[in-house]
Amino acid sequence: MTRDGVWAAPGRVNIIGEHTDYNGGYMLPIALPHTVSCTATGRADDTVRVCSLQQRSGAVSAPLARLDDLSITGWARYPLGVVHEFQRRGYPVSGVDLTLDGNVPAGAGLSSSAAVECAVGVALRDMFAPEISDAELVDITHAAENDYVGVPSGILDQSAAIYCTAGHALFLDAKTGAREQVPFDLAASELALLVVDTNAPHQLVGGEYAERRAQCERAAAELGVELLREITDPAAIDRLGDPVLRRRARHVVTENARVLDVVDLLEAGDDPRLIGPALSAAHASLRDDFEVSTDELDTAVEIACATGAYGARMVGGGFGGSIIALVDAAAVDTIAATIGDGFRARNFAPPRSFVAIASAGARRIG
Ligand code: GLA
Repeated sequence: MTRDGVWAAPGRVNIIGEHTDYNGGYMLPIALPHTVSCTATGRADDTVRVCSLQQRSGAVSAPLARLDDLSITGWARYPLGVVHEFQRRGYPVSGVDLTLDGNVPAGAGLSSSAAVECAVGVALRDMFAPEISDAELVDITHAAENDYVGVPSGILDQSAAIYCTAGHALFLDAKTGAREQVPFDLAASELALLVVDTNAPHQLVGGEYAERRAQCERAAAELGVELLREITDPAAIDRLGDPVLRRRARHVVTENARVLDVVDLLEAGDDPRLIGPALSAAHASLRDDFEVSTDELDTAVEIACATGAYGARMVGGGFGGSIIALVDAAAVDTIAATIGDGFRARNFAPPRSFVAIASAGARRIG
């Protein structure tokens, strides 16, 4: 029997471990307090109807048997892709109304899409197939994004939305699927994680992300490994003849090492300020070796570090979106305001800042 209700899934920021997921590597995201909620109500017919309070275009309805219809376009493909993937795997979904609402900033590199997919995913699981494990739910929502929406992303965003817990960062190994909850309580050290959305729209559907993935795959093949994650000695990369592939591979190899260092520091209970240099090194690597940063992201990172941040970096896929900065709690307002001033002086769009606290993953809320 279906039970109507309300479910929610969060956006995320990744503390470190960017563009490592599709290389079988390591990541360390936290869930944001910002969520997308999904109110799900069973219907007597075989229709699925999705509506989003953030979309002006109105509700989209489709017969459950017709979800392969390619005329469904835009935002509705995210929730409908999850319904479709449940069906494709043989789970018994019947008619349902799904109403989405939320406050995860869209286009900010904070995984509002995965929040939509995972809110719908936990709702459908509870209503129609409670036997589905969290691991399969990550797989279902990730497959929906890759195959139905057509974005070739890795598993970072859906894993963060499903597995994260309040007060922890999630240490994830993409190759083995192993995961660990690492205590992440910055307030106890009078610190804060400042998120600055540069307001320069980011667009993953574009070809740049797919190109980076393809370059990583080529580098792995030339080095004779299945995944770049297998390479741990940065000197091994010198065997790559193409300087672009060398830079891409160097980012992945050094980024994996940085994740392990940060996890070691946090697990040892050391002062979290000590992770700052790894965050800034990750930014330099994403900017110079992986080449996915922008002027806005670089400017926000530079100003944060010049104004007292212990470390800062762009988060997510890049080409726009947000940065994180590790700052003294007492310095949040000054640093955010200085970044705002710097953006104005450069005629960039006004940035939006908030403090991120490690929050809960996807769950039923009503
Ligand atoms: C996007 C993708 C993720 C991951 C990051 C970069 O957020 O959706 O799978 O690859 O970029 O770390």
